[in-house]
Amino acid sequence: LKILFCASEAIPFAKTGGLADVAASLPEALSAQGCDVRLFLPLYPSVERTPDALKVVAEWIPISVGVHTYHVHFWQWLGPSPYPVYFMEKDEFFHRPHLYVHPLRGDYEDNAERFITFSRSLYALCKHLDWIPHIVHLHDWQTACAAAYHYFHWRYDAAFSRVRTLLTIHNLAHQGLFPESYFGLTGLPLEAYTIEGMEFFGQCNFLKAGIAYSDRISTVSPKYAREILDPKQGFGLDGLLRRRRNDLIGILNGIDTTRWNPSHDPYIPAPFDAEQLDGKRVCKEKVLEELEFPASVRQDPLCVVVSRLVHQKGIDLILEALDDMMELSVCLAVLGTGDPHLERLLLQAQSRHSDRIRVVLDFDEALAHRLEAGADIFLMPSRYEPCGLNQMYSMRYGTIPIVTATGGLDDSVVDAAQNPQMGTGFKFYEHTKEAFLEALKAALEAYRDSETWRRLRQRAMREDFSWPRAARSYMALYEEMLGD
Ligand code: ADP
Ligand code: GLC
Repeated sequence: LKILFCASEAIPFAKTGGLADVAASLPEALSAQGCDVRLFLPLYPSVERTPDALKVVAEWIPISVGVHTYHVHFWQWLGPSPYPVYFMEKDEFFHRPHLYVHPLRGDYEDNAERFITFSRSLYALCKHLDWIPHIVHLHDWQTACAAAYHYFHWRYDAAFSRVRTLLTIHNLAHQGLFPESYFGLTGLPLEAYTIEGMEFFGQCNFLKAGIAYSDRISTVSPKYAREILDPKQGFGLDGLLRRRRNDLIGILNGIDTTRWNPSHDPYIPAPFDAEQLDGKRVCKEKVLEELEFPASVRQDPLCVVVSRLVHQKGIDLILEALDDMMELSVCLAVLGTGDPHLERLLLQAQSRHSDRIRVVLDFDEALAHRLEAGADIFLMPSRYEPCGLNQMYSMRYGTIPIVTATGGLDDSVVDAAQNPQMGTGFKFYEHTKEAFLEALKAALEAYRDSETWRRLRQRAMREDFSWPRAARSYMALYEEMLGD
């Protein structure tokens, strides 16, 4: 099976969120199962540009975007990688420190041109490689338009006629919305600008184009695949998704169990596993010390948050519940960046409760590992969560997640309050402060009984969230698509 993965981010090259983890790990798992997977990314400044790292594939390839023709170069990665990685170089568009957003001015004004150029260029890349995939696997709005290009243009090329397109939605809230006047940039025929196509309340909607024109659509958990059919969670696209429900499937993400492995994690001070949990105590002591929590609170349970600080993640619910949480004698460490308003409120909370709250406004991979290893409880009160990776990292590190019963959080955590024999975390079912605090209290009650807590931790650590399961589901889906 030949599969071309097209994404706007993937580790170790560029990352703003979970998409980067998935766009790197899923190809690895697929190639381990015998697929010829190749990954295609824009060339960002974070990618090393030495002759040892990059080899040219093709230069000065014209890509037309509206009335403009941009010339792009294709490179192949020579560094270590379990599968071939290609980059599209267009420095005018991608040589910027941030991927999508200017830190002060918001979304880059030329995001439409940037990602149209990238999406259109994949066809040229395949031609230059003389490698035609069976499946073009697209991710989120940034690459979604490629499904429309295939539907309206590429499939009329004999070599491409049997290619099938799959769009994976990692977050329906981000749609790539642009003014109607941008439609000309897409190079799509007028019939694509309809209510069945990419038109969305008088705007161009890139994700909608992908949903309308891809052969199949997937999302990153079974529950989220059902939730987005409902107007409450459909972000205006539930109608189209309901029309395409027979082509929509939810496959729960996996996690990279090599990078996230408490028995071999170079970032943490002491290794541990489900049988031998002593190292976890050392990890907790060290991280409390590192964050300068006073000695008087170091025996108390440590709750952590590692997250983008945005509305989706329910950070405001934690802020609302903070004073009550402090009464329960817990410590809280938050690592994240995002909405400046939430950042400010968190810093204020830290100064109000300077003995029990630490806020680190940074993107810090190593600290994320140390927090997962050192914490007792992980908080993930998301309003919605297509999959979520941190609750799975937490379980693997014996850190008990408290999550909203939504999307992938609901699919991956078993509620110990409802099912004490099988539980791996705690859930709350209404997005309210009261429900959240109830779940926290249930977790703290379990925490106080060391035998119950140990068993809960071990069950969580023994859950299998590795990628082969998900990779097999994707392979079955690809095969089915080729049979259509
Ligand atoms: P989302 O993609 O919606 O942000 P996920 O849970 O799928 O949520 O993935 C988030 C990823 O980003 C995880 O790998 C998490 O560890 C990482 N992450 C988020 N914020 C930070 C941060 N401030 N520092 C380090 N890693 C972070
Ligand atoms: C998105 C979602 C998150 C998911 C990730 C990877 O960023 O918000 O829930 O885990 O994509 O699929």
